[in-house]
Amino acid sequence: MDQRHLNHKDMVNYGSYYTPEWLVDMVYSFLEQKIPRLSDYYILDTSCGYGGFLRGEKSAGADIDETAIRTAKNLSPRHVCFRQNSLSHISRSQYQLDDNAKIIIVGNPPYNDTTSMIRNKIKQTRFERDEDVSSRDIGVSFLLSYNKLRADYVCVLHPLSYLIKKSNFESLGAFRKNYKLTDSAVISSGAFPGASKTTCFPIIIGFYERLLCGMDYNYIASYKFKTHEGKAFTLEQYDTITRYITKYPNHKKVGGDETVAHFYTMRDINALKRAATFTSKENRNTIRVTKFNFPYYCYVDVFKEYIPHIPYYFGNSDIMINNEIFSELKDVFVNKTIQKHPNLHSSVEVKKSRNDGATALDAYFRTLLGEHYVG
Ligand SMILES: C[S@@+](CC[C@H](N)C(=O)[O-])C[C@H]1O[C@@H](n2cnc3c(N)ncnc32)[C@H](O)[C@@H]1O
Repeated sequence: MDQRHLNHKDMVNYGSYYTPEWLVDMVYSFLEQKIPRLSDYYILDTSCGYGGFLRGEKSAGADIDETAIRTAKNLSPRHVCFRQNSLSHISRSQYQLDDNAKIIIVGNPPYNDTTSMIRNKIKQTRFERDEDVSSRDIGVSFLLSYNKLRADYVCVLHPLSYLIKKSNFESLGAFRKNYKLTDSAVISSGAFPGASKTTCFPIIIGFYERLLCGMDYNYIASYKFKTHEGKAFTLEQYDTITRYITKYPNHKKVGGDETVAHFYTMRDINALKRAATFTSKENRNTIRVTKFNFPYYCYVDVFKEYIPHIPYYFGNSDIMINNEIFSELKDVFVNKTIQKHPNLHSSVEVKKSRNDGATALDAYFRTLLGEHYVG
């Protein structure tokens, strides 16, 4: 059942996108596979909506949305449901659980979906949060709250970007220090009814165990992510353009006289899909391109055209590159860019490139993406 009692604005404010049942089933199959004496545990969903994740005798749910909680109580009278802000005064006693109770947290906490332009236009209401779980992203606050409750296991859906973007990963603070991702599946945001189908982003169903060792970014970099569609990847398997060029404005480092072109700030692949690349005007969001790194920016410009061949699970990744093959094809990339932006011709030197340029580019992207190439 979806969150049909809410209007669009409230849906955005509460982050209410209820989870289809087949994804709830996936969460429970992780619990069944990984936890030996499952019946010893209390199952909690601290942002439960209509209670779609509540199963079994020892389950409890909470939500800030009064109507959702009322519906949850009606739908499953045997489960305990609390109406509350789960990020404020966080403690086990909120759920009538003592220090010895064994706890598993399940669910799909709300998050600020910054990948959706439309939703960003709606001003988000901020609910009070305990200081030790404060974060820019409400989903990160929820993960921190699971640590504060000292859950033994956590199996929830959240954007993959929390783990793969280094700055986000660091913001997981005490959660990443105390929990380790030991199993998971990556699915597309498109699995949610009502989500944008044009720009899908990866969501992970993460199974975390509370372990003293926690995890560091190297662990994530070499972690083998498996997708729901049966593909697998690691972050380390790709080289990215961040090793060769800056993604951010560099006005202090590069002089105007060295500059041959201007390029918009880059973020991840999904952002590039919507962003402009080369621009004739400089502003505070543009990067100064020199004649030495110009081919790499052409690379990004051409990469943008090939985004339809990149699967959703790389949507929040950095732009990948095979530098060795690219080095042999630089002129092909440069020529392709000049065709699109003829003004650049006056500021850079262009060598005539081979006649089979288009085929070479297609072959390059097929090789780069390998089994991940979307045909
Ligand atoms: C993505 S929905 C998930 C609902 C349900 N677990 C499901 O998957 O079907 C997120 C839920 O979090 C609730 N929520 C948002 N902020 C909250 C808060 N501070 N405390 C408790 N619940 C909150 C929303 O009302 C919404 O029902």
